[in-house]
Amino acid sequence: MVKNSKNMENTDWSALGFDYLKTDYNVRYVYNDGKWSDMIVTQDEYIQMHMSASCLHYGVELFEGLKAFRGVDGKVRLFRVEENARRMQSSAKRLCLPVPSEEMIVKACIEVVKLNERFIPPYGTGASLYLRPVMFGTTAGLGVKPAKDALLIVYCSPVGAYFKSGIKPIRVAIDREQDRAAPRGTGDVKVGGNYAASLMSGEKGHELGYSNIMYLDAAEHKYIEECGAANFFGIKDGKYITPKSQSVLPSITNKSLRQLAKDMGLKVEERPVPVDELPTFEECGACGTAAVISPIGYIYDMQTGASYSYGDEVGKTCMKLYNALQDIQYGRAEDKYGWCTIIL
Ligand SMILES: Cc1ncc(COP(=O)(O)O)c(C=O)c1O
Repeated sequence: MVKNSKNMENTDWSALGFDYLKTDYNVRYVYNDGKWSDMIVTQDEYIQMHMSASCLHYGVELFEGLKAFRGVDGKVRLFRVEENARRMQSSAKRLCLPVPSEEMIVKACIEVVKLNERFIPPYGTGASLYLRPVMFGTTAGLGVKPAKDALLIVYCSPVGAYFKSGIKPIRVAIDREQDRAAPRGTGDVKVGGNYAASLMSGEKGHELGYSNIMYLDAAEHKYIEECGAANFFGIKDGKYITPKSQSVLPSITNKSLRQLAKDMGLKVEERPVPVDELPTFEECGACGTAAVISPIGYIYDMQTGASYSYGDEVGKTCMKLYNALQDIQYGRAEDKYGWCTIIL
């Protein structure tokens, strides 16, 4: 087979952003006639699809995001892939799509890393290999109904460090004009529609110099939900506090940080977090696969004009949690919970 001709040897890995970069292979499964195909390995970046496919008209689409890291010992670790596989299953269920098995998803993720080994950034560059499993309904039709056919693809792309010149606090804006997800809607699954719904407020925030939008609960605008494509947490009085809500995506990073926080002797609280509690936090942050932790330095409420400052320096608890998680991902600390799958 003809490989991608791009020679990666001279790549400035640390300069990479978060963008699609063509790799050699992607892997796929096709669902037709009530069953999944075997895993297909391809170099084709394109898909042929009927113009009336359900994903194009009714948003029958879901995805995942996870990373593989080249460790200090040269080994390649995939972080908590089983968790992403299970979240993908719950998204598929929610959209009435066929549900792939956990094994199928994990196998595809492992395979795509192995097949694209030359795109895994070296240790010490801060870069990693981002995996994007994506799945959608392909049945052609006109009416709104569950798709009978689906395509599941796992591809990957090397991505640079989130913070190019070291972790530093971000500015966040609260938007009360647009909500991300409704109570009992699809906020707790990773479906494309949630992200489409967030674009407008994201753009508004960016224009004003904010890197992230903080969403409040859609019913009352009283409680904190999420921070862009990341969960929120606050630290105070020896506690790690994070919103509990049926319209928040269960972040795998947050789940990991809760465990690490407990290990550090912090008390973990998962509960509704009123926006009025913001002034009481000593530190707060957004957490997710992309950045692990983005400490929050400043929050501005675009409608009420209220603002909250947490300083220009990264708080010590945020820093400690960030290092603890990265140490596991890069093989610098014992992986005592078995979060990493060593694949190369
Ligand atoms: C809306 C939303 N919240 C939170 C997260 C963080 O989740 P994770 O830690 O699993 O990446 C993401 C990213 O996947 C997201 O899109």
